[in-house]
Amino acid sequence: MIAIDNNRKVRILGIETSCDETAAGVVLRRRAGQGEILSNLVRTQLDDHAAFGGVVPEIAARAHVEVLDVLIKQAMEEAGVSWNDLDGVAATAGPGLLGGVLVGLMTGKAIAAARNLPLIAVNHLEAHALTVGLTDGIEPPYLLLLVSGGHTQLLIVRDVGAFERLGTTLDDALGEAFDKTAKLLGLPYPGGPEVEKHARVGDEARFDLPRPMVGRIDPHFSFAGLKTALRRRAEETAPLSGKDIADLCASFQRAVCDVIIDRTSTAMALYETALGEGVERRLVVAGGVAANQAIGASLEQLCRTRGYALHVPPAALCTDNGAMIAWAGAERLVRGLVDDFTVPARARWPLDIKAAPAIGAGVKA
Ligand code: KG4
Ligand code: ZN
Repeated sequence: MIAIDNNRKVRILGIETSCDETAAGVVLRRRAGQGEILSNLVRTQLDDHAAFGGVVPEIAARAHVEVLDVLIKQAMEEAGVSWNDLDGVAATAGPGLLGGVLVGLMTGKAIAAARNLPLIAVNHLEAHALTVGLTDGIEPPYLLLLVSGGHTQLLIVRDVGAFERLGTTLDDALGEAFDKTAKLLGLPYPGGPEVEKHARVGDEARFDLPRPMVGRIDPHFSFAGLKTALRRRAEETAPLSGKDIADLCASFQRAVCDVIIDRTSTAMALYETALGEGVERRLVVAGGVAANQAIGASLEQLCRTRGYALHVPPAALCTDNGAMIAWAGAERLVRGLVDDFTVPARARWPLDIKAAPAIGAGVKA
């Protein structure tokens, strides 16, 4: 058993290949809540997938193979560290597209074996969840809203490796809902930033859309009904003018914000009950959708009324990157949480293994 040394200084290489970004970064963890990004390189595959309106797993895996070794070399050079300076290698081992995860994990294993370094198999969701430690020096416990292209969850982060899932989506992830809405309206992929841009000049009150799950006891989400309602409104209104598109985007985004406020508010009550009234009230938002400013403003308002501090890492660290994998790897390494070479790549890997699968939830939830 390795002793836990929470103030140990470690340098970690992080590798991320679970979706459509190939990423490598080096992070220095000085002590608890104090990290420094030495390099953080992301090579997006957006152009490879754009024509298909979504990520194609086979194309993604091949593209990771093509660029990963060069990217790692660049990340090491930019960080100014040699292999001997590293204390460990962290690679995403899931959840995600299996072909891609295998590329990164096998590369991590190869480096760890060749350089005799500890290997840390990182859960991609845990990396998103812990990023705020790197960016804001925030250590658990806190309430986490994780909203990305593959995941929509509300979780209590009790500690590294200790999560309690309060809610998840029963169908689409929120980023996916943004992407599908964009596709329906003829806007390019990825749709989130596009929908946000058009919504800015639209009338959010023009189209009456549902707020799925609002008022339910458990803070789960569902976006399928909202998507269907939006498609109907679009079909009724077609041919769509620029103003129609903007109004549809604004009405959709308003509905999403209302849902998020209601669900997060419910989760706050559960968080306070679980950890006791005296618990520090902190809400952390992570994942690509955290970049959405309308959602951010709604959450700010909620946090003000509920006496919570709101922490949102900068956009570049909310979307997939290697530094967050390195940081999660460092947090695990100092706790003695390392893996051997038999550790598998996993398409599905829930943070809270005790949580019952939500009815209808997709594999990524
Ligand atoms: O975390 P991420 O980079 O990748 C996953 O792990 O899924 O998230 C990507 C998702 C995409 O669905 C994208 O449309 C969405 O985040 N997204 C946004 C915004 N920026 C990115 N959604 C809404 N508003 C945005 N500004
Ligand atoms: Zn992600």
